[in-house]
Amino acid sequence: MEGLRIVDVNLGERSYRAYISEGLIWRAGELLAKSLTGLTRCAVIASKPVQGLFGGPIAKSLEEAGIGFDFILVPDGERAKTWEEAGRILGLLVDLSLDRGSAVIALGGGTIGDLSAFVSSIYLRGVRHVQVPTTLLSQVDSCIGGKAAVNHPKGKNLIGAFHQPSLTLVDPTLLETLPGEEFKSGLGEAVKYGVVADGVLFKAMEASPRDLLERRRPLLMEVIYRCLSIKARIVELDERDTKGHRAILNYGHTVGHAVEHLTGMRHGEAVALGMEVEAGISRRMGIMSMEDEERLLRLLDVLGLRRPPPRLDPMALMEVMRRDKKAEGGSLRMVLPTGIGSPPSLMKVPGGEVIQQLEAHFHG
Ligand SMILES: NC(=O)c1ccc[n+]([C@@H]2O[C@H](COP(=O)([O-])OP(=O)(O)OC[C@H]3O[C@@H](n4cnc5c(N)ncnc54)[C@H](O)[C@@H]3O)[C@@H](O)[C@H]2O)c1
Ligand SMILES: [Zn+2]
Repeated sequence: MEGLRIVDVNLGERSYRAYISEGLIWRAGELLAKSLTGLTRCAVIASKPVQGLFGGPIAKSLEEAGIGFDFILVPDGERAKTWEEAGRILGLLVDLSLDRGSAVIALGGGTIGDLSAFVSSIYLRGVRHVQVPTTLLSQVDSCIGGKAAVNHPKGKNLIGAFHQPSLTLVDPTLLETLPGEEFKSGLGEAVKYGVVADGVLFKAMEASPRDLLERRRPLLMEVIYRCLSIKARIVELDERDTKGHRAILNYGHTVGHAVEHLTGMRHGEAVALGMEVEAGISRRMGIMSMEDEERLLRLLDVLGLRRPPPRLDPMALMEVMRRDKKAEGGSLRMVLPTGIGSPPSLMKVPGGEVIQQLEAHFHG
């Protein structure tokens, strides 16, 4: 197939492939049949708007491949990522008689991906999961790596599991209908990959921000491919996020998750804000140079990811961050960038240092 790119995620018996290609959604059935041996049935999880957009092509290609399926509709966006919704879906999987040879397909953004991965991880002690990401954020980031989760009233992603997909199908043409704000949110994660691992990617985005915002295909394909390749290598080193390698992908997320939790801001936008604050901490601590910090701020700016921060109480942010998984006593474990494209360091940052930077950003 022309323009097909493949990212292999090598995890022994849990290895899988992410295919990236224009028009791939029309080949979903064929690729599922080829990649998932002994496949019996599928449940396709989607929200109504996304089913309206892409349910047709997915259904057609599954039918053509002779794969039986049902759609399960869930609320749109973050509202779907709840324990209650997971329970409701599990009940439907039982009603649909999905067996251990079945697969659950996530058709949607990161919320649907995380939720359906979680459900797949526990239904019958685990059934296969297929990611068909439809947002930029999910195409550059959440569609591989196996982090499955729902939110808890006290924090994001507090309930979850590791459950790698068996197959990931990335079709960048699906992004044509994505609202501008959602597209930008995905760019936040892409910038993150540039900062923590790939100076060439960062430069490519710096050189053509307009093409990127206009979703020009060759550049978009390249960005998706580079981000997923980086993530695959990191996940291979540290599948369950225990060795420190995978933690570098949390750059921007300590502050970002707290902002997201308190304001309901989009994930990638909150991460962009988090990257800004955490780069500030890094520069103040003499780890990141001022030039690199400025380069980052400039790129976030031209991509529309530097809007005035919401008014937030730094102490409230601290409280949420402390409750988050990265807290350790009085200080916070944070991923601080060391430069553009170079591995960041995982450090214990004194609470006072964090508060000072938060105060500078959020003006109480
Ligand atoms: N598992 C991971 O590794 C990982 C990584 C990053 C983020 N996440 C999670 O991902 C979630 C955010 O995902 P998201 O940013 O994709 O948001 P999302 O899934 O909420 O989707 C955003 C909106 O875009 C709409 N949409 C989706 N695809 C569309 C399309 N092609 N055209 C038009 N509209 C479309 C949806 O209907 C929705 O309203 C967060 O919950 C975050 O925690 C997970
Ligand atoms: Zn993220």
